Amino acid sequence: MQHALDPLADDVIADPYPFLAAIREDTPVVYCAAIDMWIVTRHADVEEVFLDPKRFSASIAQAPLMPLCDEAMAILKADFGIQPVMSNFDPPGHSRIRRPLARAFSTRRMRLLEPVIAQRCSAILDGFSADSEADLARELCYPLPALTIFTMIGFPDTDADQIKAWCADKLVVNWGRPSAEQQIRAAQTMVAFWAYCLAFVERRRREPGDDLTTDLMQDTDVAEPLTDREIASIVFGLSFAGHETTTNQLANCLRAVVENGLWAAMRADRSLVAPVIEESLRQVSSVVAWRRIATEATTIGGTAIPAGGKLLLSLGGANRDPAVFADPDRFDPGRGNARAHLSFGKGIHLCLGAHLARLEIDIVLNQMLDRFAELRLDGGDYAFPPNVAFRGPEALPASWELA
Ligand code: HEM
Repeated sequence: MQHALDPLADDVIADPYPFLAAIREDTPVVYCAAIDMWIVTRHADVEEVFLDPKRFSASIAQAPLMPLCDEAMAILKADFGIQPVMSNFDPPGHSRIRRPLARAFSTRRMRLLEPVIAQRCSAILDGFSADSEADLARELCYPLPALTIFTMIGFPDTDADQIKAWCADKLVVNWGRPSAEQQIRAAQTMVAFWAYCLAFVERRRREPGDDLTTDLMQDTDVAEPLTDREIASIVFGLSFAGHETTTNQLANCLRAVVENGLWAAMRADRSLVAPVIEESLRQVSSVVAWRRIATEATTIGGTAIPAGGKLLLSLGGANRDPAVFADPDRFDPGRGNARAHLSFGKGIHLCLGAHLARLEIDIVLNQMLDRFAELRLDGGDYAFPPNVAFRGPEALPASWELA
């Protein structure tokens, strides 16, 4: 167990679920020296923490998991002016910003995005049709959510490749155990992307568009309008929140569909698509952990937590808690309560992109079911990025028979 108490150990990255089941059973709230955090694995405990923002602050949600080296710190200190605005912000500031942002995720904005997603998905799949195989992670799951969130924000399509390159290193720095070289590179790219976000927001002040950034600027329903630095911080955060999460969920869901032999049944009955997506969010969530910090000495599930104790809320553990989900390791789209999963968090920070994520996956699955009579995965052993929170295969080689 001593060895196993490292969520970044190779075998845990390869498959965290046996590790999570063992600690949920033995020590559901346990201190982990390897990352200096308390790991919380029971559904009831994770939910309790999410629902009590006074006792448990979100301020560490986006902080590097491990302390950064001096050189990376110096780069960030000099030129990185992002401020906490959403997932790492506490009330009352968080409520002030969430209200206009929630309005900007409007039904109209979603309605405008839907045909864009459908058209781009179709273009990607057109590109596949000549072959009968592709790496679905790299060629479909990665670009589609990126292009979707960039369109929603208003970034020009022509900048997409540059933005994706800037975003690449943040994951391992915020959620893994990066080398000094990776930290420095990530600090440099984060500074470059921050400058891009600021310049983009200034441009939108002069040249409004039909996008979420302009909506935030033009929202007149706020007592204290958002500043450009706050809007740039939102745009910066959304570029990540809306991307890697959905990329990985799409890949995890496709994998679950194929490995559970559901392709033919879903082609015959499209009403299965929605419950399959929901069950994939529960059983193979792309976000397996989230963070909070205790603002006072307290207890969780009977375990004492000191003031300042950092918590790794195991969404993967909670989503497979047998106290809530019968036979939790089984992929069962027919279970009635998959929506009780905590993959989108809960309470005041509940994911604002949940609808969009479900919509994207729904569009992709339906288009693939239309085109492919059969889908096979040729992956064997999948590799996963070494971090505690974001989980999805690095490659998803697949082949198919056209319908
Ligand atoms: C399957 C895909 C996704 C998953 C699993 C996911 C998961 C999460 C989680 C765990 C949180 C933190 C919740 C909490 O602290 O209680 C969160 C927050 C958030 N997510 Fe997502 N997310 C996904 C997709 C998206 C997308 C597509 C967007 C944007 C287009 C988005 C935007 C946000 C925002 C803005 C927040 C912060 C909300 C707040 O602090 O008030 N997410 N998400």
